[in-house]
Amino acid sequence: MSGVRSFFAGTDPCWLTPATKQPVLRAEVSVDSADPLADTVRAELDLLRQAAGAADAAPDGVREILLCTLDRLGRTPVGRDLADAVHAAVPRAGLGAEGFVVVRRGERLVIAAGAGRGLLYGWYHLLRQAAPLAATTGADHTEAHRPACAVRMVNQWDNMAVHPVMGSVERGYAGRSFFYRDGRVVADLSRVRDYARLLASVGINALSVNNVNVHATETRLLTDHLPDLARIADVLREHGITTYLSVSYAAPIELGGLDTADPREQRVARWWAEAVERVYSAIPDLGGFVVKADSENRPGPFTYGADHADGANLLARALRPHGGTVYWRCFVYDCHQDWRDRSTDRARAAYDHFVPLDGRFDDNVVLQVKYGPLDFQVREAVSPLIGALRHTRVALELQITQEYTGQQRHICYLGPLWTEILGFDTTGAGGPTIGDIASGRAGRPTGGVVAVSNVGDDANWTGHKLAQANLFAYGRLAWDPLASPDEVLAEWARATFAVDAATLAELTALMSGSLRTYEKYTAPLGVGFMVTPHTHYGPSVNGYEYSPWGTYHFADRDGVGVDRTVASGSGYTAQYPEPLASRYEDPASCPDELLLFFHHVPYSHVLRSGRTVIQHIYDTHFDGCDEVEDLVRRWSAIADRFDAATRRNVDERLAEQLRCAREWRDQVNTYFFRMSGVPDAEGRTIHR
Ligand code: GCU
Repeated sequence: MSGVRSFFAGTDPCWLTPATKQPVLRAEVSVDSADPLADTVRAELDLLRQAAGAADAAPDGVREILLCTLDRLGRTPVGRDLADAVHAAVPRAGLGAEGFVVVRRGERLVIAAGAGRGLLYGWYHLLRQAAPLAATTGADHTEAHRPACAVRMVNQWDNMAVHPVMGSVERGYAGRSFFYRDGRVVADLSRVRDYARLLASVGINALSVNNVNVHATETRLLTDHLPDLARIADVLREHGITTYLSVSYAAPIELGGLDTADPREQRVARWWAEAVERVYSAIPDLGGFVVKADSENRPGPFTYGADHADGANLLARALRPHGGTVYWRCFVYDCHQDWRDRSTDRARAAYDHFVPLDGRFDDNVVLQVKYGPLDFQVREAVSPLIGALRHTRVALELQITQEYTGQQRHICYLGPLWTEILGFDTTGAGGPTIGDIASGRAGRPTGGVVAVSNVGDDANWTGHKLAQANLFAYGRLAWDPLASPDEVLAEWARATFAVDAATLAELTALMSGSLRTYEKYTAPLGVGFMVTPHTHYGPSVNGYEYSPWGTYHFADRDGVGVDRTVASGSGYTAQYPEPLASRYEDPASCPDELLLFFHHVPYSHVLRSGRTVIQHIYDTHFDGCDEVEDLVRRWSAIADRFDAATRRNVDERLAEQLRCAREWRDQVNTYFFRMSGVPDAEGRTIHR
């Protein structure tokens, strides 16, 4: 690779716009040419030179910038003092393969790292600051960074062939896949390259490139499409991103013509060993596989009376000689449940299936666990499985795509949700947090963090321009689970929009509480769902009530909520350790926002807040809708300071958000009024 690369031709560069704002006169890089990322780091600096070619350095600005691996520092003309300062800035624990230091003394600034990957992350760190380096770093400045989680993965849910129900990207709200078209990998991967740059710029280092629901066409990524998969991997590798592949558990049958995929059969193991051998000869640094097995009608080891340790280890053993890992999803539950059967509780399923197997998984198996026991709801309990697995590598699974949080038509900044999950104390008594477990600080084996992507071929990547913030925030929080979601949001806004500070402050203020606004006008108090079946957009209070999917609210004329207690319900609360289990078991100590997740209570039940459940439902639905009206007003007041595309996009989506929020408010309020017969204490309009 040589010369200046172009990026984002015809697409939105998101937060990667500010190279032009860096008045740097000289930029050099010193990294071993054999380093896999050397060319990419050089290309980044070429971009800078091109953009800043004519710029004058601000009087107190950085005139020279050097990106240098630590081992080469002595060979550069950086000067003894600065070199010493760089070495002194390296934390005692070192920088690892991905960490970096930034040291500025006057007009000179050095980014140093152990390898090219760290240099690239350090470079993007500066780029994300958006303002000229002088304004952000100060004349005498030192900082050191190292990612908390070793694996920071994104899962594409892209289908190669458009699925009749799920479309091009399953749960995709930003157009079609830009990886695949008409059952093939696209010929021109420049958009994938732009995406790789976006991902790397927020520290993502792994990407699974196809939907976890692997249909017939995608199964052939293991065979016919392998050369194309290798092309994708080549492009991702340039930005330090490791490729993973979602595979079908039944591939030995579908591709190999075997009559079984029984994990205990030698011929099945042999088939996988050979398939994996072929894949690695095309992509020697493949990260491994992602597997959705025995989940929502996908094939899996249960068919053969085997369990998920047998299934996961089968693939792990095929991957082991090549250094690969299997990310095995724990989203295993009965989606053919009879709603009349009150003894089955979907929330229990993942824990019940996987905890008894803890300790039986090979060490190149990672169990990938959704943050909640149900399915990416705006509010649900944090999964007890993550804390319970002591002897198995675990990865936290988040969802950037807003399947249940407004589908990129509503403003819903997810940073605060993820921060809450990452900070969740798994014992309730100073035990490790989810973030501690994901980052390895808990001293347990870890697989990092994974999240479902929210991008498609829309010009602005995410459908809603402001949904870009969620992709940005995921990367930043995976790098640093302790980062403040508001600061991350502010960083995103500064890097994305060329508007004044007051406008930025107003934009971030209106986005920062949008998650809680969304929660207010949708399903109340953690009860979840109430969405239109299948599309999962907009209200349908009873949409799933008599369905086989296991997501019920059990509202009747007396009360609402799911009894998950040991005393009288499904016993789910016992999956948590003490004192959490007791806290959730007792409605008096259960947090209000999760009350209906754990308990079935009368409408007259008084919350810890002092309000009755029914009045809380009315209040939050009126408030939530008012807050959306407020969002519209506040956005209108600043909209004309943004570019036309952003203005149009946000205007249009806010109008839809308001329409939808009103629908939620009225359907939910009317439903509960009809059920309970209790009027709103404030006499607001509830349709009958
Ligand atoms: C949700 C979603 C599905 C998806 C599944 C999964 O249920 O609605 O589209 O396939 O999650 O995570 O596997």
